Amino acid sequence: MKTVIAGAAVLSMLGVFAGKAHAADAALIRQGKAAFDYHCAACHGTTIVSGNRHLPGTEALIVKYQGKLPGALEERTNLSSELVKYFVRHGVSVMPFFRKTMVSDTELDAIAAYLSRNDHSGTDTHDSGRAQ
Ligand code: HEC
Repeated sequence: MKTVIAGAAVLSMLGVFAGKAHAADAALIRQGKAAFDYHCAACHGTTIVSGNRHLPGTEALIVKYQGKLPGALEERTNLSSELVKYFVRHGVSVMPFFRKTMVSDTELDAIAAYLSRNDHSGTDTHDSGRAQ
C-alpha cells in the first residue's frame, strides 16, 4: 500500500514538473514568435499582405525545395533548433548573418524553439534543412 501511495505521489509530482516545463516552453515559443516577426518575417513571412510584397527568404526556399517543403519557415516540420541557429549565425546566400548584438543568444534560443516546435524529423536533424 505504501508503495502505491508513494508511486502516486511521484506520478503527481512528475505531472506538476511536466506541466511547468510545458508552460516554460510555451512562453519561450511566444517570445520566439515575436522575435521572428521582428527580425525574420520581412524575408521569411507566410503571408503576402499586399499583392506585391516581396519575401526573399520564403521565395528562395520555394524555389530551393520546389514545393516539396513549404517556403515559409514557420510551416516547416523538419527544422531543428541547431539548424536554425547555424543559419542565423552564419547566413546563407543573400541572407545576412546576425551578430549577437543584433539577435542575442536569448532571442536566438527563443526563435529556434519557435521554428523547431513542430520538428518531427527525429534526432538526426543536423542536415534536415539542407537535404537534396
Ligand atoms: C534579408 C532577408 C532575410 C532575413 C532578414 C532572414 N533571412 Fe533566412 N534566408 C533568406 C534567404 C534568401 C534564404 C535562402 C537562401 C538559399 O538557400 O537560397 C534563407 C534561408 C534561411 C534558412 C535555411 C532554410 C533551408 O531550409 O535552407 C533558415 C533556417 C533561415 N533562413 C532562418 C532565418 C531566421 C531565423 C531569420 C531571422 C533571425 C532569418 N532567416 C532572416 C533571407 C533572409
